Amino acid sequence: MANAEPRSAAQVEASHPAASGMARAAWLAGNLRRLPPAIPALGLHLPIWAFILAVCHGVGSTCGLSLTALTWIEGLTAWAVTRGLGLPRWWQPINLFFFPLLGLALSSEIEPLWAMVAFIALALTSLGSLRTRVPLFLSSRPAVAALARCIPERPGLRLIDLGCGLGGPLAGLARLRPDLVLHGVEAAPLNWLVSRLRLDRRARIALGSLWDQDLSRFDVVYAYLSPAPMARLWDKACREMRPGSLLISNSFEVPGVAPDRVIALDDLSRSRLLLWRIP
Ligand SMILES: C[S@@+](CC[C@H](N)C(=O)[O-])C[C@H]1O[C@@H](n2cnc3c(N)ncnc32)[C@H](O)[C@@H]1O
Repeated sequence: MANAEPRSAAQVEASHPAASGMARAAWLAGNLRRLPPAIPALGLHLPIWAFILAVCHGVGSTCGLSLTALTWIEGLTAWAVTRGLGLPRWWQPINLFFFPLLGLALSSEIEPLWAMVAFIALALTSLGSLRTRVPLFLSSRPAVAALARCIPERPGLRLIDLGCGLGGPLAGLARLRPDLVLHGVEAAPLNWLVSRLRLDRRARIALGSLWDQDLSRFDVVYAYLSPAPMARLWDKACREMRPGSLLISNSFEVPGVAPDRVIALDDLSRSRLLLWRIP
């Protein structure tokens, strides 16, 4: 379903009259996936809130539920809808916990100054993920150690970390594999600054989009992104990287392209490194 081209709901229903409800849900989910996630998220939560508040208003004072209870009812409903529509699994906890956590933050009497500092930090590290669909999370130590082991030993090999975050993998590689020439690119300004300061002269860190990088300059490309950009990244790698060079993805698969090698990692999320030799 994830890769199926969504047709119109009417077409889908005509071809599967018995399963029209499921077909409509699949068609809706297919179209939702094409929008920036903030839009379907709003489209999901606003009607649920409108419904809950309308019910409470109708019931009047007998409703008597606390804000916390309302946020949990909302979160559970959004979780059920997310499941019902067959949206990617990682949307489920986000939709379940978003409003309960917001309610918790609002009721915890945080100083407005700290709330503003937290918001600015969040914006500078993660606001771009509304568009890129790639949030900030960090490679584990076992992932970096496995990465260092699986890169061929050839003096002067050039590696880039696409979306280098806070520079953890590059710092680890600088220590474990001093033979490598290290580069990183990062779109979020605060992440870029942290990487830049952390790596100093051990790696060249560019501020900008990974899509503007010319990958033909690199022998190894490392990416820990999300499912969203993987098909596009594979196309770019095949177009630009030299045959025989390596694309390594932490956790995320390229749809429809089996990796040449998979390395299981002994970390909390039981993730994997996936390696492709560019044909
Ligand atoms: C999951 S984090 C991985 C960070 C780091 N590579 C690591 O493994 O610890 C993904 C990073 O990619 C960055 N990013 C997302 N889209 C990007 C883009 N189009 N260009 C450059 N960086 C991007 C995000 O800001 C985020 O810091």
